[in-house]
Amino acid sequence: MTETHTPWAEPYKIKMVEPLAMTTREHREKALKEAGYNTFLLKSEDVYIDLLTDSGTSAMSDRQWAGMMLGDEAYAGSRNFYHLEAAVQRYYGYKHMIPTHQGRGAENLISRILIKPGDIVPGNMYFTTTRLHQELSGGTFADIIVDVAHDPNNTFPFKGNVDLNKLEALIKLHGAEKIPYVSIATTVNMAGGQPISLENMKAVRELTKKHKIRIIHDMTRVAENAYMIKLLEKGQGHRSTAEIVLELCSLTDGATMSAKKDALVNIGGFMATNEWDVFEEARNQVVIYEGLHTYGGLAGRDMEAMAIGISESVDEDHIRARVGQVFYLGEKLMAAGIPIVKPIGTHGVFLDAKAFLPHIPQTSFPAQTLAAELYLDAGVRTMERGIVSAGRNKDTGENYLPELELVRLTIPRRVYTQAHMDVIAASVINVHKQREKITGLKMTYEPKYLRFFQALFEKI
Ligand code: F0G
Repeated sequence: MTETHTPWAEPYKIKMVEPLAMTTREHREKALKEAGYNTFLLKSEDVYIDLLTDSGTSAMSDRQWAGMMLGDEAYAGSRNFYHLEAAVQRYYGYKHMIPTHQGRGAENLISRILIKPGDIVPGNMYFTTTRLHQELSGGTFADIIVDVAHDPNNTFPFKGNVDLNKLEALIKLHGAEKIPYVSIATTVNMAGGQPISLENMKAVRELTKKHKIRIIHDMTRVAENAYMIKLLEKGQGHRSTAEIVLELCSLTDGATMSAKKDALVNIGGFMATNEWDVFEEARNQVVIYEGLHTYGGLAGRDMEAMAIGISESVDEDHIRARVGQVFYLGEKLMAAGIPIVKPIGTHGVFLDAKAFLPHIPQTSFPAQTLAAELYLDAGVRTMERGIVSAGRNKDTGENYLPELELVRLTIPRRVYTQAHMDVIAASVINVHKQREKITGLKMTYEPKYLRFFQALFEKI
């Protein structure tokens, strides 16, 4: 482990490079128009620095690539499945594991198995795919995150925390039997990559135990959350990130994982549970939607890379450099007076589009607009996390109007350098200087589900 008085520099060196596309503004204007001002619809070849997501965009290590060569591509009982199962048990402590093609495959299984029509699923803020699967199973999501999570300027270090009064009130109102589980994400993506504290997690466990309600853990970025606990929570600084990860998982009954984030693979995920009955039902269902329970939509080599990625994700030098790089960018933007969500998140820096473009009303999509402008300026691709992502209320059909109207600059793991961070910061600062000239967008095509992926827009 590196000494903590040295900077966070990358604990790896570069063995292979992938050239980036350098484009002109004229080229980008054409590309953006063709993409309907939606950064999801840009061709990756037209992008210089891609901050769309940290999902599936990590650079794998030489050990992971070596593991890919050891793929056992048997239909059933591949040796790589057993390696993955052992890694999940060792690093996360869950008893049973079923691989899935990615996180939402696991969300589909857990929602179908546990949620009945009319159920309520409390969670520390929604995530797009997670909430949709809950709704498709007949459930209704209820937000129980602390109020400060909705305020981009509040610097409370654990904005992923659950408001226990909100949870208790929900249990009182609906009855515990209407709540199949509480959905807890470690770190909360839509709040700006904010962690939940260990203390709060323990309190949620205590309350749910009293009412015999499960906790299902969205553990997509659990290592980043654990690292923030180590860094900021009283009495936790002497512990390893790996230890804290294990403890967080031990406070829950099951999990869904998108291994495309923390676990450093380009594709893959799993569902985990400590309950035999739930496991048995998941084994029945996975063959319908993903594949046999020993591959769940993945190749043997993918499972091997995931098993190795899980062990690398809790390495102290890795996690320090990963979060350190995100903080480097965030601090640079803050120093330049750019409005960002505070504290800085662990997987990206979130621009506060309402404050960045105060002259654009939320119904003209300020975050979508800002993402488009950032692409135009220097070819940096980012993602809207505001009114477009929030979608419509499933019962009333009305647009949700989220407090947070954000543009996410998501940093892939082990991919870009500090010099890239400097280019990104310079471009954001340049767009900020010209912000008064920027006008909003109108939506010309709206898909029924998860509209942000494929919606089309025009300049007003
Ligand atoms: N939960 C969280 C917190 C996520 O961030 C994601 C994906 C998922 C579940 C679903 O996993 O994509 O593997 O099916 N987030 C990506 C993102 C898409 O860009 O934040 P998936």
